[in-house]
Amino acid sequence: MSIPTPSKKILLGITGGIAAYKAAELVRLLVKQNMDVQAVMTASACQFITPLTLQALSGKPVLTDLWDNAGNGMSHISLARDADAIVIAPASANFITKLVHGAADDLLSTLCLARGKCPLFVAPAMNVEMWQNPATQRNVAQLAQDGIAVLGPVSGDQACGEVGLGRMLEPEALLEELETSFQPKILQGKNVMVTAGATFEAIDPVRGITNLSSGKMGYAVARAAQEMGATVTLVSAACLDAPRGVNVISVVSAQNMLDTVMAHIAKQDIFIGVAAVSDYRMTNPKPQKIKKDGNALSLELVQNTDILATVANLPKPPFCVGFAAESENLLKYAEQKRRQKNLPLLAANLVQYGFGGDENTLILLDEEGSHPLPTANKLTLARQLLQHIASLLGK
Ligand code: C5P
Repeated sequence: MSIPTPSKKILLGITGGIAAYKAAELVRLLVKQNMDVQAVMTASACQFITPLTLQALSGKPVLTDLWDNAGNGMSHISLARDADAIVIAPASANFITKLVHGAADDLLSTLCLARGKCPLFVAPAMNVEMWQNPATQRNVAQLAQDGIAVLGPVSGDQACGEVGLGRMLEPEALLEELETSFQPKILQGKNVMVTAGATFEAIDPVRGITNLSSGKMGYAVARAAQEMGATVTLVSAACLDAPRGVNVISVVSAQNMLDTVMAHIAKQDIFIGVAAVSDYRMTNPKPQKIKKDGNALSLELVQNTDILATVANLPKPPFCVGFAAESENLLKYAEQKRRQKNLPLLAANLVQYGFGGDENTLILLDEEGSHPLPTANKLTLARQLLQHIASLLGK
């Protein structure tokens, strides 16, 4: 069964730049994700933000001085080796230069040099001219060659009043990069297709039939699959921000979704139908807006093709996973659905939990029986679902 990601030890290095104030938010986000954060500040960083702020947020004294722990053996080496990742945010132009040359003249640079196999992430932040200077560009290229992950910078307003490349990646984005790096790459080499959102069946040019579904669960599944190394195609009837690195194809109706899925299904290894597909569409959608005339209105509907069942019953189907939202008899109805559609795995949930929230509760049903996944945010559930899929595929 799937195991939640264990809490990670992060060594967060803060160097001298105005973006240092954002490190406080980054610490807060990391701690919220149950990560153990040890902040290390350079002397210049302490000019921009006080160690006390980061100590209060991380719950640990902040390290600033190479000699603080001098009586404590080779503490800088063990600090770096114990960490699951070192993140330098913000990384100033000067600190990047020090990394490139292997300088070790303060605690943070020494930690970086002594890190052994601990992965190092660097989030540059500086004035646009400093960033574009060929010296910085040479240094950043060297970091990448040395296996150091450079995250950002992004373009936008700068504290100095200029506009351009050099802003530090926002703390939320840095957290996302870090979490992605921690996911086991168990779906490497797999093509995964996910459907998401609620399809919309036109009645006339301004009205339609749809279902309640935010699309958040499908997007979380797509993101989690991408994090685990898969090449992901998301066929979406929702309007949400595309998960990074995921190929999103937007559709409207169930027929659009079916056509899109079938056009790309041959190369998929895994198909996960999370979308709330309308069971019916209008036999003849009206070309003009229907006018109300005081009388009852009857709409003639025809049943849509079941996309998931169509895929699952192909001669060589990918590994198919369904979702079932039921309002009662959850296990009975969901298991019936799994068998009817010929699915090796189905994720069931009770609809009374509500739509559009960030949390859910799932029960996974497969040939072995049922596996409950306790209430958690949708991304956590998506990761657990994909770990379960990978284990069924023998990964
Ligand atoms: O039969 P029901 O709609 O409850 O089944 C839900 C599952 O089937 C979901 O995985 C959904 O994406 C999929 N489905 C589909 N095409 C339909 C109806 C449902 O792919 N027309």
